[in-house]
Amino acid sequence: MASEGAVIWAERAQAELGAARRFRVLADGLEAVGVQAQLVGLAACAVRDEEEHAFLCAKMARALGHETGFAKPEGLSSAATPSWAERHNARERVLLDVIAMCCITESFNASLLHTLYSRTEAGAARTLLHRILKDEVRHAQLGWALLAAQSQDGGCDYVADHLEEMLDISVRDAVFLPAATEDAGESRSIGVLPRAQRRAHFCATLDEIIVPGFAHFGIDTTSMTAWRDHKLALHLQEAEAPED
Ligand SMILES: [Fe+2]
Ligand SMILES: [Fe+2]
Repeated sequence: MASEGAVIWAERAQAELGAARRFRVLADGLEAVGVQAQLVGLAACAVRDEEEHAFLCAKMARALGHETGFAKPEGLSSAATPSWAERHNARERVLLDVIAMCCITESFNASLLHTLYSRTEAGAARTLLHRILKDEVRHAQLGWALLAAQSQDGGCDYVADHLEEMLDISVRDAVFLPAATEDAGESRSIGVLPRAQRRAHFCATLDEIIVPGFAHFGIDTTSMTAWRDHKLALHLQEAEAPED
């Protein structure tokens, strides 16, 4: 059976393939609603980046012993159609898709990869983390740049109505599961975050990067912090519940 590290890289490979597909749709959507060509170009570039990431992550997973290099991440409801797909304004729909992908998913990715890069020992995993990180930072910036343009161009208050749902769609519940402290030795050489550190890392990224990012544009972020508190309380209750 493949090690946890191999499975994590295989899940990354699969997620990268999904990201390539999403950016293809986003690039077409941005072009259709007449967003500036530079931003459309960034989305088109991201498709190629993500395809390359998928290939490289799968290669790493196989090197660590995973049979195919690809594994479906569990616990994500990515197949669900978001409520904003019902909005009448096509530009708002596309903007919300880009925000969910770039400001939320890619910002979390970039933060995680940055942390992993800074903690991983020199070697193949660290080189790959750096290779992917510089692209993911650009992908996150696409979202924030689009939000900046939109905030000058008619406002984006409506974004607040969907932030909680974006977190629901993007963040796996597993992040909140309590985990015992474990030996981080292997994690440091193969580029994965020890389970026991995942929740704190997620909350720090939310509080220090994502929430202030939206607040900067005057968007109400109360629902995001309430969502985080709710998840933390829920999993704390589960951890404390006596076992039958
Ligand atoms: Fe990627
Ligand atoms: Fe990306």
